[in-house]
Amino acid sequence: MITGAELYEKLKDVRISGGACTFTPEKCESMAPLVNAINALKKERNAVILAHSYVSPEIVYGVADYTGDSYALAKDATRTTADTIVFAAVRFMGETAKILNPGKRVLIPGTDTGCTLADAVTGDDVRRLRKEFPEHTFVCYINTTADVKAECEVCVTSSNVYHIVETIPNDKIYFLPDKLMGQNLVDEMKRRGVEKDIQIFGGRCYVHEEYDPEMVRFLRLKFPGVKVLSHPECNPGIIKVSDYVGSTSQMLDYVQKSKDDRFAMLTECGLSSRLQIEFPEKQIVGSCTLCKYMKSNTLEGILRVLLKPRPQDEITLDEDVRLRAQRCIDAMFEYVERKPVSHVPLEIPS
Ligand code: 13P
Ligand code: SF4
Repeated sequence: MITGAELYEKLKDVRISGGACTFTPEKCESMAPLVNAINALKKERNAVILAHSYVSPEIVYGVADYTGDSYALAKDATRTTADTIVFAAVRFMGETAKILNPGKRVLIPGTDTGCTLADAVTGDDVRRLRKEFPEHTFVCYINTTADVKAECEVCVTSSNVYHIVETIPNDKIYFLPDKLMGQNLVDEMKRRGVEKDIQIFGGRCYVHEEYDPEMVRFLRLKFPGVKVLSHPECNPGIIKVSDYVGSTSQMLDYVQKSKDDRFAMLTECGLSSRLQIEFPEKQIVGSCTLCKYMKSNTLEGILRVLLKPRPQDEITLDEDVRLRAQRCIDAMFEYVERKPVSHVPLEIPS
């Protein structure tokens, strides 16, 4: 059991976005019973809670069993022995957990769990593109639906996209759906001296596409010595002026290991909240950008799905789609773990 005062002690350093994400002793006092009810129900139902770093801090630090970036959470989903996985994030991440755990119940507590990237492309789009680009290896970002993964050879996340695309034994790649990450991928392959024909789809993350290199110039003027960290979903102009580019967990590691003490995070502000909590001696500057989909996860929603999930809270997948999507995710694990990858070419429907 946690008291309001103990919860406040954990959350008090969050300062990034004024009222929306700051915690008072009173706010924590009112949240504590909900946190305790969820933690008790988790045990009763043999459930675990996976939470992406972008969801609200009271979820990450109050009830989550696993937190991290999309790669780490996909791996964690394969390790748990619980019967039920509650995935506080967005729907495609819940789908990934279900693809990897067909025998477990996967529940998503958010009320608006889309993602502008995952919603940008459908399985039909990929089937059509495969006819147009029959010699290309189709590489999808993990921010895609199970239907899309089922049509692609390899899945990637922001933490491994460059390594995997460089390693794929084909110099023709179709990357989807993130246009900006695709442009960054092309630039990075050039920088590494890797020659590949990389075709790119047109999706965008509505949170990361907004950052403007002018803003970085302003941040550097206003906060001398600041280290600028950005996510590969940002535009190439931002990537060029950043000190470090990586997935949310890689950015967290960078700050932890860095000897610097001032950072600007060009990513969803849940990550800034985490840094303020975990490294209170470091200064996190800049604005707050919220992902409305990630932030639609609440303690109330988690309690609801544990008590009485509605049909739309539970992930269900067609078994054929699941198996095909699993092959695509397993290929990613094999590339990252440097195991031999069996590239079974997908059948292209006539
Ligand atoms: P990460 O895998 O870096 O956590 O990214 C997920 C995401 O949705 C970023 O917008
Ligand atoms: Fe999708 Fe962007 Fe939200 Fe990440 S931040 S879940 S890419 S909309």
